Amino acid sequence: MGVTATPSSDRRASASLFSRLRTARGQEDPFPIYEELLSRGEVGPAPWGGSFVTGFAMCDQVLRSRDWLEPDKRWRERQESGTRWNASSSREMSNTLAALNPPDHTRARRAAGTFDRATVERIGRSVSRTTDQLLSTLAERLRDGEADFSALVSEELPVATIGDWLGLPPADWPRLRELTHDQVFTQELLPSASQLAASDAATAELRAYFTSLVKDRRAHPGEDPVSRWIQSWDAVEPDRDKADEAVYFLVLFVLLAALETTATLLTTMTLLLVENPARWDLVADRPDLVPAFVEETLRYDPPTHVISRVAAADCVLGDMQIRKDEMVHLLVGAAHRDPAKHREPDVFDPLRPPAHLAFSGGIHYCLGAPLARLEAQTLLRKLVRRLPRLTLVRRPSMAARVAFRRPLNLDVALA
Ligand code: HEM
Repeated sequence: MGVTATPSSDRRASASLFSRLRTARGQEDPFPIYEELLSRGEVGPAPWGGSFVTGFAMCDQVLRSRDWLEPDKRWRERQESGTRWNASSSREMSNTLAALNPPDHTRARRAAGTFDRATVERIGRSVSRTTDQLLSTLAERLRDGEADFSALVSEELPVATIGDWLGLPPADWPRLRELTHDQVFTQELLPSASQLAASDAATAELRAYFTSLVKDRRAHPGEDPVSRWIQSWDAVEPDRDKADEAVYFLVLFVLLAALETTATLLTTMTLLLVENPARWDLVADRPDLVPAFVEETLRYDPPTHVISRVAAADCVLGDMQIRKDEMVHLLVGAAHRDPAKHREPDVFDPLRPPAHLAFSGGIHYCLGAPLARLEAQTLLRKLVRRLPRLTLVRRPSMAARVAFRRPLNLDVALA
């Protein structure tokens, strides 16, 4: 296929589809819009410049390729002043793992370590305990009528899990969770000026909190991950201030990456369960399907719908000519519904072979995927075992986001 210049009619058509994506209706159900984008080809021109990809195979290829980079610090510095990339929250994010490219990324990722089996088992005991407590509270509330599953369970389990693992005082958890909701705006597709201002303020407060935490752990090391990260960084970075700064960026990003995404997964999974009695009965009868139900949720409506990269050099993507430094937005929420990848993609089917990009791919594959899966699987298993069937009272409202999905409530009642 030949390389074509982008006709302005294409850009106009995608502009109209993207503006629909940003309406409340579009955020409640972006999938018909994705379908239209998909039908126009697997790569297209983004209205604000750069391009977007909807095809599964092409998203996968970009994520795994060395020709595509994260928009790192140097890239952000090359952008015009006054853009979102110069906001203080964006500059701060440029130092975190998910915005680094090799060799900086390789070094930081090595120092971060992984969730090995023993760690997951240990965290699993705390996840199990917390889930039991949260479900008891939910059951109590349900005796009086409807209850918001999102507020009572989905928002609580991730912060308790990560807070407990990092050794953060429970009294701080609600504030950290609030700050995360604001901070995420700087990572959104097209943040508004007021969203960026909220993100800048949240980032500054998080910096103060976590730099002081790192200082404290250096003075009083323990068995926690922050103390271990200080040790790993000390082994490769002789300058203690630089090592502390690197640990700060890691612990900051781990918190940001872990909270909203996991809460959204838990709410979406439970929504899919309660909106259809046959699904509840299926999982209750066949608990062996729990992992598959979680994976299909991650495909059907992943917490992150957009992942972005920039071109390392001039190149061709599909039938589009791309210049070095141009950004490509991988619409993974759309790619998961690509009929070339999944048969009947709009059908929720836990029995289909799992294949999704919810945790990204290549060198930036989500570090916390084992933890997110652990929380979702534990919750689903216990939910159908401990509670009678629940039913959906009303459809959740969605936060004004495109890239990072966030249901604001999940009102349920006893069936
Ligand atoms: C359902 C929950 C989650 C989802 C959907 C999710 C999604 C993602 C995605 C899409 C990326 C890659 C971004 C990119 O390629 O640019 C990523 C990276 C990352 N995630 Fe997660 N995440 C989840 C939970 C977690 C948890 C619980 C943790 C914490 C322990 C975590 C820590 C990280 C870290 C540290 C990275 C950066 C990896 C790197 O750049 O090398 N995530 N996550």
